[in-house]
Amino acid sequence: MKEFKIGLNAKLDMLKFRDLGINREKEINKASKEIKNNDFQLNDLVKIMHPNGIRVEVTKIIKETDDTKSFYLKPLSIDTMPPFQSGAYITLLVSIDKRTYKRAYSISSSPSSLNEYRITIKKDGNGIVSNYMFNTCAIGDKFNILGPFGNFTYQSLRDQKDVVFIAGGSGITPFMAYLQDEKFLNKINSLTLFYGAKSEFDLIFKKEIDEIKNKNNKIKVIYVLSEQKRDGYSYGLIDEEKLLKEKLDNKSIFISGPIKMYFYLNEIFKKLDIPNKYIRHEIFKEIPENLTDKTFNLTIKMLDKIITIPCKGNETLINSMEKNRVKTLVHCTVGVCGFCRSKLVKGNVLTENTFLRAADKDYYYIHPCVTYPLSDVIIEIPIK
Ligand code: FES
Repeated sequence: MKEFKIGLNAKLDMLKFRDLGINREKEINKASKEIKNNDFQLNDLVKIMHPNGIRVEVTKIIKETDDTKSFYLKPLSIDTMPPFQSGAYITLLVSIDKRTYKRAYSISSSPSSLNEYRITIKKDGNGIVSNYMFNTCAIGDKFNILGPFGNFTYQSLRDQKDVVFIAGGSGITPFMAYLQDEKFLNKINSLTLFYGAKSEFDLIFKKEIDEIKNKNNKIKVIYVLSEQKRDGYSYGLIDEEKLLKEKLDNKSIFISGPIKMYFYLNEIFKKLDIPNKYIRHEIFKEIPENLTDKTFNLTIKMLDKIITIPCKGNETLINSMEKNRVKTLVHCTVGVCGFCRSKLVKGNVLTENTFLRAADKDYYYIHPCVTYPLSDVIIEIPIK
C-alpha cells in the first residue's frame, strides 16, 4: 500500500496560496453592500443561452465510414443551440439499461449554424456508449446534453496567424467546425491540415474537406495513410520529416487524436524546440493494455455519504460508478478538464492521465475517468 506524503510541489503551492483567502475576503469586504438588480441581467442572459442541460432529438444519422456515424441533434427544450467556439465539445447523456452514461463528443458542425449540432462517433470494441449509438440509436431518439465546453479554441490574442492542424482518425471532428468557421478563417493567414488514418476508406469527411479546401486558398490538406500506399496520399505516420516540410516556425499547432499520437508528436516538438505556448491539444482516451478483469471494491466518499460498489480492473472508476448508478461529475471523460478530480484516499490504481497539476499528483488526486483499480480503492469526491 502506498504511503501518502505531501511532496515539494504541494508545499510550494501551499506557500503561494497561504494568504489567498485572507486577501480575497478583504477585497470582497471593500465592495458595496447594495445589490443592484441590473448587475444580474448578464447572468440571466447567460442562463438562457447556456442552460444547465439541453434536451435534444436525433434528426439525421449519416454513416461516414464503416465504423463512424454522424448524428444531427436538434434542440427541444430551447429554440436554438447555444453558441460555441470551434473546437468545443458536448457531454452526451445516454441511458442504457436504466443506467446513465456520460461521454464527450466534439461538435463537428459550423458554429454559425445553431439550428442543430452535429457530433460524430466512432464505434469502439468495448465502448458501451459508442456501440449503443452506432448500433441502436435511431432518428427520433431523445437525449440530454451538457455544454458546450472546452479550451481547444483559437484565440487571436494568443495564437498565431499561421496554423497547423494535426488530426488522427476521428480526431478530425473538432477541426470540421474550424473548417466551416468563416470568422476563424478570416482571422488567419494560412492553415495546413495533416489528417492521418489507416486507409483512404477511414478518412471521415474527405469529400467535405476537399470541397472546403478547393474554395479557400489559405487551406492546404495533407492526407497521411498509415496502412495503405496510394497516389495522392502521403504514407506512414505524421512524422518529423513530413512536419518539417511545412515549416513549423511561429505557427500555432493544434493536435486532436489518440493520446499516443499526442505523446509521439510532443517528443518531436520538444526536439525541434517548439515552445509549448504554440501547441494546443484535444486527446482521445485509449484503454491501457494488460488490465486485469478482477473485481475490486471501490468506496466513494461524497459529502456525508459513503458508498461501496464493485469495480472491475478493466473499467475506469467512473465507468463502475455509472454502472452502479452512482452520480458522477464528468465533462470531458478523457482526463483533461479536471471536473471529476477526486482524492485517492487508499489503494493502488493505474492512471494513464498525465494532465494532472503537479501539486495534485503530490496530494494524490486522480481523475477517475481515466483511472483503473489495481486493488480495493477509496476515493473522496470534493464537493463544496
Ligand atoms: S471528466 Fe474531465 S478529467 Fe475526468
